[in-house]
Amino acid sequence: MSLPRYVRLVEVSPRDGLQNEARPVSTLDKVRLIEDLSAAGLKHIEAGSFVSAKWVPQMAGSAEVFALLSRQTDVIHSALTPNLKGFEDALAAGVREVAVFASASEGFSRRNINCSISESLERFLPVMVSAQRHGIRVRGYVSCVLGCPYEGKVTPQQVSSVANELIDMGCYEVSLGDTLGTGTPEATRKLIDAVTGRIPRSKLAGHFHDTYGQALANIYASLLEGIEVFDSSVAGLGGCPYAQGASGNVATEDVLYMLTGLGIETGVDMARLIAAGQRICKVLERRNGSKVAQAWQPV
Ligand code: HMG
Ligand code: MG
Repeated sequence: MSLPRYVRLVEVSPRDGLQNEARPVSTLDKVRLIEDLSAAGLKHIEAGSFVSAKWVPQMAGSAEVFALLSRQTDVIHSALTPNLKGFEDALAAGVREVAVFASASEGFSRRNINCSISESLERFLPVMVSAQRHGIRVRGYVSCVLGCPYEGKVTPQQVSSVANELIDMGCYEVSLGDTLGTGTPEATRKLIDAVTGRIPRSKLAGHFHDTYGQALANIYASLLEGIEVFDSSVAGLGGCPYAQGASGNVATEDVLYMLTGLGIETGVDMARLIAAGQRICKVLERRNGSKVAQAWQPV
């Protein structure tokens, strides 16, 4: 299959990135990060999540973040919502797009959202109904698509079955999450092959954590399989609190560098993106996890 001309990047650092940071980040710093990312040209930014503050304290201020964001018609600011309560809180905060998140493995589902896979899918149904009534688009995630921290191996069939359910209930797109970052390109290829048995490629996205340094290779394998949407996180921020040792998503700067080298457009400006990553790393007093940001020499 030939490579696409354009790739849509979904920037997840304000959510997937910051949810895993031990150090508290102020609402103003979160808003500044999101505004910096949109100034760099990112058109879809996952800006927060409406989950239990007891479970993920860093996301507790998501309503305040949404209240302060400047509304741009050409930028989607989305939020994670695990159930109807989260969805209603998101709605009250003015969120216009949400994501529900399920797991391909029972062990991770229990640890992450305290219920089985089928219970989680049941909890999403009223979210879908209410979202449709309010004209809100819903994205779906499947976690642990290439391995689970509690169960080890996950088969492509397990992933495909959960992804099908999410599409059938009305998600416009399903993002396949390698939460642990253990996947390799051949496993990625087999996974996409299985999932596209019923779901068109245009409704799939890739979400690769870079724990084992395989994320760019997995994105390249996905591109060759016809996937055109990828989630990434500036400066490689983040991880998942329920996947011990998992590092952040692949760095947006590194994905952009690879895509540019492949002649693929994204609409994102590298210098501004790097500046956004450097600024938040300074706030977090953390090393920038993007190799490109470390090596970048402005021309
Ligand atoms: P639970 O304790 O099972 O919920 O949590 P419950 O229904 O039994 O309710 C218990 C209490 O939580 C009640 O409050 C509810 O009101 C409250 P109380 O009466 O005790 O005062 N509650 C909520 N509060 C705020 N927001 C809500 C909400 N729902 C109930 N939405 C729940 C279930 C899902 C809420 C909890 O397990 C949770 O918040 N888990 C955190 C999940 C999370 O954010 N994980 C990280 C994101 S997923 C991820 O990173 C993977 C991804 O990146 C893809 C990949 O990499 O693979 C997406
Ligand atoms: Mg993730």
